[in-house]
Amino acid sequence: MLPRLVVLSGAGISAESGIPTFRDFNGLWNNYRIEDVASPEGWRKNPQLVLDFYNMRRKDAQKAQPNRAHYVLAELQEDFDVTVVTQNVDDLHERAGSKNVIHLHGSLFKMRSSKDESLVFDIKEDIKLGDKCPLGSQLRPHIVWFGEAVPLIETAAEIVASADAFIVVGTSLQVYPAAGLIEETRDAIPKFVVDTKIPYISPRLGFNALEGKASEGMERVKDELRRIFAKQ
Ligand code: OAD
Repeated sequence: MLPRLVVLSGAGISAESGIPTFRDFNGLWNNYRIEDVASPEGWRKNPQLVLDFYNMRRKDAQKAQPNRAHYVLAELQEDFDVTVVTQNVDDLHERAGSKNVIHLHGSLFKMRSSKDESLVFDIKEDIKLGDKCPLGSQLRPHIVWFGEAVPLIETAAEIVASADAFIVVGTSLQVYPAAGLIEETRDAIPKFVVDTKIPYISPRLGFNALEGKASEGMERVKDELRRIFAKQ
């Protein structure tokens, strides 16, 4: 059986693909108010603005290509049983070839009923005001907004707890419960954090920090993991 590698990724892994992050200089949250476009209140107040925001982001994601960091994770599947737990709503992990991807915060390529959250549909085109689910309610982006539950968090926590190696890449670890997943890792496993600006992680958790771009950092982590697990 292959060793289990679990990866927690965030917007920084897609930055080199040209998709803006949220909290960096010129990030999305400098240009939009979270409460306007990423909350149930914003949706109630101005659904058109919310639809425009995610329709635009879907187009941006469709235009973008996976970068080296996404591909390295797909390549690691040759030596590891890899699960990517991503906060990202783009599909660049899948397009690079990663097979097991958990989208904690939803996906730009799905929409759902605003009455029954189990009614989820694939999409490639814009969602328009007036587009209805079979129950007759307006369709909305399948995105976890602030103030909403994260349905996949328990599943993700179990997978993280079973990891033989763990990587955090391109996330500021500002948003919970996703950020709390690092606490679920077992003690004596190799752990890496790759980021242009390493986020705070308690030294107690024993992470190796690789400061730099995701593409470069992930190449180094790949070499390091292959070296560590070849020895065992
Ligand atoms: P943030 O924008 O908070 O953090 C992005 C991280 O990527 C930061 O730590 C940057 O230093 C780092 N970064 C930027 N460019 C990089 C590069 N080229 N290589 C490596 N790292 C780089 O994004 P997230 O942590 O993903 O939620 O944000 C978490 C959640 O907050 C998102 O899923 C979204 C947002 O609000 C929802 O929409 C529900």
